[in-house]
Amino acid sequence: MKDLISTKDLLKDDFKALIAQAKHFKELNLSEAKHEDKLAGKSVIQAFFENSTRTRMSFELSAKRLGCDSTSLSPAISSAAKGESLLDTIKNLEAMQNDFFVIRHQKSGAAKFVAERSKAHVINAGDGCNEHPTQALLDLFTMSEHFGSGDAIAGFESISGKKISIIGDIFHSRVARSNIYALQTLGAQITLFGPPQCMRYAEVFGSKRAKNIKEALNDADAVIMLRIQLERSEDEVPLPNEYAKYFGLNASNIEFLPPHALVLHPGPVNRGVEMSSEVMDSRSLVLEQTQNGVAMRMAVFSMLAQS
Ligand code: CP
Repeated sequence: MKDLISTKDLLKDDFKALIAQAKHFKELNLSEAKHEDKLAGKSVIQAFFENSTRTRMSFELSAKRLGCDSTSLSPAISSAAKGESLLDTIKNLEAMQNDFFVIRHQKSGAAKFVAERSKAHVINAGDGCNEHPTQALLDLFTMSEHFGSGDAIAGFESISGKKISIIGDIFHSRVARSNIYALQTLGAQITLFGPPQCMRYAEVFGSKRAKNIKEALNDADAVIMLRIQLERSEDEVPLPNEYAKYFGLNASNIEFLPPHALVLHPGPVNRGVEMSSEVMDSRSLVLEQTQNGVAMRMAVFSMLAQS
């Protein structure tokens, strides 16, 4: 596989291989060495046309831990700000013998557009409302570790049939899409729930839709809470207080969630809106997800470098 654009392009064996590799890299990251120079001599340009903390920093760390030269394009101070097109930008960077592009862009389809026109490997780090495949992969790795009580491969094999609820702004969420496609391939039972205006076209996924948060929580093995995508939604989303009351996870409604169920959120979290601080700090796996993101992105670089 030359590029990673969508979780739709991955088969069950691809997910399994990535989880096995991520497990290896997580152990490496916890060791003194932290480095395994599998990508020595390669280079990556992180081209983030949208804000990011977790994804950008973890791609940068993962490239460096593999011995790959990593540098960042800052669109605000690049010639993109003078009107240079995305394609001309990429072609000029490719002329520097660059091997990988990690691209985050506000337009759906931007990473695919570049991948089809570049010889370099392209990794989609989030394109508009479309997809964020490495977020879904790190979510899958995190769930697999917990479902397998530390044995991620055993946990991965148990995902088929697991009940996973995705709650929040489904319509604008690239994290939702990448998770839905991955979990469908793996045979999980997905339930979707969110404000009506954030559930537009949700029927296209063919998943169960809950009528209220109690129904979304009450037999879940895991819930993925989504961030309200205010930057994409222009007054369509309920006000924060109303959102928190009907769609947020808090100390009161978490009682509907089975004790064994996992609570995930891709971050950044609007504390007190999608999750109360109490739930976030005591029950959620947000920081484990961030930790696992470095290992999973090392696995993705390794997989693409082999092709
Ligand atoms: N989860 C995620 O994509 O976070 P960032 O926007 O900080 O990269």
